[in-house]
Amino acid sequence: MSSGRTVLGMPRIPRSVDPETGLPDTTGRPDDPGLVDRFGRHAIDLRISLTDFCNLRCTYCMPAEGLDFLRGDKLMSVEEITRLVRIAVHEFGVEQVRFTGGEPLTRKDLPEILRSVSQISPKPDISVTTNAIGLEVRAAELKEAGLDRINVSLDSVVSETFETITRRPLLHRVIEGVDGAAAAGLNPVKINAVLMPGVNDHEAADLLTWCLDRGYQLRFIEQMPLDAGHSWNRSSMLTAADIMGLLSERYTLRPDEQPRNGAPAELFRVYPRGSAECLGKVGIIASVTRPFCADCTRTRLTAEGRVRTCLFSRDETDLLTPMRSGASDAEVADIWRAAQWGKQAGHGMDRPDFVQPDRPMSAIGG
Ligand code: 5AD
Ligand code: SF4
Repeated sequence: MSSGRTVLGMPRIPRSVDPETGLPDTTGRPDDPGLVDRFGRHAIDLRISLTDFCNLRCTYCMPAEGLDFLRGDKLMSVEEITRLVRIAVHEFGVEQVRFTGGEPLTRKDLPEILRSVSQISPKPDISVTTNAIGLEVRAAELKEAGLDRINVSLDSVVSETFETITRRPLLHRVIEGVDGAAAAGLNPVKINAVLMPGVNDHEAADLLTWCLDRGYQLRFIEQMPLDAGHSWNRSSMLTAADIMGLLSERYTLRPDEQPRNGAPAELFRVYPRGSAECLGKVGIIASVTRPFCADCTRTRLTAEGRVRTCLFSRDETDLLTPMRSGASDAEVADIWRAAQWGKQAGHGMDRPDFVQPDRPMSAIGG
């Protein structure tokens, strides 16, 4: 099936569209039922944004104000989400489903979504990326509804810094939520953090200490150009190497022996300086400086039911409208396959002609 690996930095293949159907051109696509693309990648990891709404306003994700959120029947319903996941599992062999946002907990019907998706056989691994606000009261119900794991976005455990980043004074709510989730047995708790120069970079080791003390696994993600303000700057962003440097002021990091298996996070064992006692692990996701696009196994759906094959796609393919107009599962699957076939090689951030996606992260779904 492999048609060769992505060569990073190579020109993006222009996506031609069939003028009659409006669908991406599938010339050369092998007769493979799965979600394959022209670079030999096979998507088995589905990320679904449930809403573009969020109760925080992280600077690297959303503008301070002026966003129009999707409402009502623009969003996929429980039944529509379930149908698309069923198609993904049955037709394409998708194994993992991650619900993202915006903030998925702001969807009141999240328990119904989880319950319904977890009835699909074989049951996919189900996770949620959340800011954890309110999770302490909902964790037990979500777990019972079929949720396997959570990833919590948390960039600082210092109230002032948290408020600078999220534009909301709600750190205490996040901490209550994370601790509540762990108490309800949603383990392992993984924490995602983005470091920004002059904002929270000086707190990197403190955040790691906080997570190690509680048994949460911290992963630092290099900041990507997805902010609504378009203020990202390649020369000032903190790289994986910078992050290692900041952590090594307090800790010794040794590469974890476990194979990475294509996982984006590079894992390190953490030791106090001068000690052999391992305190836990930390991950670094070098999306910018060591891109893993060549091994990408993802496909995404926006909250309004459009396929987005990459965070950095410049185009989307609507599945919801055909579904609402009576398309069969096989027809929906064909549109999805065609879209995935047109997936771009990589994010191309280092190319001079790189163009940031028009939509901020909150609309795309992490
Ligand atoms: N760069 C890197 N990571 C980001 N996230 C949100 N915006 C960005 C960005 N611009 C992370 C959040 C969240 C996950 C879905 O993506 O920390 O945990
Ligand atoms: Fe909300 Fe997550 Fe975006 Fe922050 S990064 S504004 S928590 S969706």
